[in-house]
Amino acid sequence: MTTLLRIDASAQRQDRSLTRMLTNLFTTEFLHANPDAEVIARDIGQDPVPAIDHRFIHAAFTPPEAREDWMTERLALSDVLIDEVVAADIIVLGAPMYNYGMPAALKGWIDHVARIGRTFSFDLGRGDFPIEPILKDKQLVVLSSRGEFGFEPGGPRAHLNALDPAIAACAHYFGVDVADIQTVAIEYQEFKDARHDRSVSAAKEATRALAQQFGRPAKQKTLHLPDQPKKKDKLMTDFPTHTIDSAPADAKPILQAALKGYGFVPNLYATMAEAPTILEGYTTLSAIFGKTELSETERQIILMTNNRLNGCQYCMAAHTTLSQMAGVAEDVIAALRNDTPIANSKLEALRQFVIVINESRGWPTEAQIERFLQAGYTRRTVLEVILGTALKTLSNYTNHIAETDLDTAFVANAWPTPASQAAE
Ligand SMILES: Cc1cc2nc3c(=O)[nH]c(=O)nc-3n(C[C@H](O)[C@H](O)[C@H](O)COP(=O)(O)O)c2cc1C
Repeated sequence: MTTLLRIDASAQRQDRSLTRMLTNLFTTEFLHANPDAEVIARDIGQDPVPAIDHRFIHAAFTPPEAREDWMTERLALSDVLIDEVVAADIIVLGAPMYNYGMPAALKGWIDHVARIGRTFSFDLGRGDFPIEPILKDKQLVVLSSRGEFGFEPGGPRAHLNALDPAIAACAHYFGVDVADIQTVAIEYQEFKDARHDRSVSAAKEATRALAQQFGRPAKQKTLHLPDQPKKKDKLMTDFPTHTIDSAPADAKPILQAALKGYGFVPNLYATMAEAPTILEGYTTLSAIFGKTELSETERQIILMTNNRLNGCQYCMAAHTTLSQMAGVAEDVIAALRNDTPIANSKLEALRQFVIVINESRGWPTEAQIERFLQAGYTRRTVLEVILGTALKTLSNYTNHIAETDLDTAFVANAWPTPASQAAE
């Protein structure tokens, strides 16, 4: 069972707090996606965790077997807070910005959770980096709000942001890798203008998307595959596979060009021909996607990742063949088919970003965009990922509905059915 630890650090009550509105939304959507999940709620805004004092430090640095009763008592709250973190798979943290940093109660909570022997070990034998975290593999979603704006890296107030870097610096105490922190922040709260309204809407959308992403059961998260009910018999809803002769007039020239180029008319084109508009749209957009600044390998990463996420067996087989013909490395093709990391970190960052774009329905967080840019991509690439995703919507959805048969040329690269993968 998945356990969500919800922490609210706003000193404001529910009806006046934007971060509480977001943590509430996250929890509701998370439970909607995963009704069996357990939620632990810790309200440090209403019931603040105090600052640590000399007694706490004395007790914490005394070995358990040598502790006096007063020490055990002084550490009791810390033990409860740590037990909650240990139990959690995902931590959602409502963290408003106060005086450019975190609320005092949140600092108190962190200081109570960072405990030698429970959440970190210390060994000078490790040289200049003696601290090692004890907990691991947890996810952190930070839902924040700020009165001003521009605190993101590169923003006009980035140098004043003492909140996000402080949370990131301490995340290892809660078993969270910095790469596993997702941050959503409302801005402009003090301006109360249209920019604030837009910021609230965007933050709500991003929060909803993250909750749905994290709420999904683990197996589906790994496979990224939807269930696909299969039609067995010929139905009224079946779609024809056209020949050049049977196709509507506007589709004929496109099918003829495909025959000339490929030596056969791919069944996808023959199916799309029923609506010459989608056929023209798909082939035109394909040609435009070929003009992007990306390498052929990068283009196939975008297309194949979409194919896999959408569970399109036709396009997986077709693009495996096209990738082989274009000289895409075998290990990259295998990673794209099997949903395993690509060894090249820049290419893997691209694959991950395509997953984010899909899973968030086009609402990546600032941190996710920032990570993508830091991998060596540009804002142009962000938009070109959207182009490739739109392209695959046309072909994948057509194949889902029409159950397009594989062409002989692609059969050797048939992709395992989602059902057989899930059984593995
Ligand atoms: C005590 C206090 C200090 C604040 N300091 C800052 C600040 O330094 N920078 C900023 O952008 N906003 C600041 N704000 C605005 C809050 O970040 C903003 O109101 C946010 O919505 C608070 O979160 P909440 O609505 O969940 O309580 C401050 C607000 C309070 C109450």
